[in-house]
Amino acid sequence: DSIMNDNSVERLIGPTAELSKKRCRLVYSSLGYDADVCLFYVKGEFFALDARCAHSGGPLCDGDIEEADGVLKVFCPWHDYDFDLRTGESGTSLQQQVYEVKLEDGNVFVKHASQLSLQPFADLKR
Ligand code: FES
Repeated sequence: DSIMNDNSVERLIGPTAELSKKRCRLVYSSLGYDADVCLFYVKGEFFALDARCAHSGGPLCDGDIEEADGVLKVFCPWHDYDFDLRTGESGTSLQQQVYEVKLEDGNVFVKHASQLSLQPFADLKR
């Protein structure tokens, strides 16, 4: 995929059975706040996008999700901009970065340039 960073590799996030229990999880990036990722589970499918809205950094994990014409969209809670969960495209001119999700051996992997974790990296160092 042309939008992928060349340094991206598949990062283990956790068990599919666990991650599918919630509509969205915040996944921490070792690169920090601006690189955190949202892992959505909607209608039986996982989607990974940058967690902070491309507009002004709103928390997309807290956004409402709607389906229109078979397209799943998340609406940013701050200014209601919409983003296609699959492509990151918006009805505005903005583009949210999306990441490839892979399911293997009962686990969810997200292709990303940095380390990813369900726990904040600062906490892991304690
Ligand atoms: S910060 Fe998301 S729409 Fe403005």
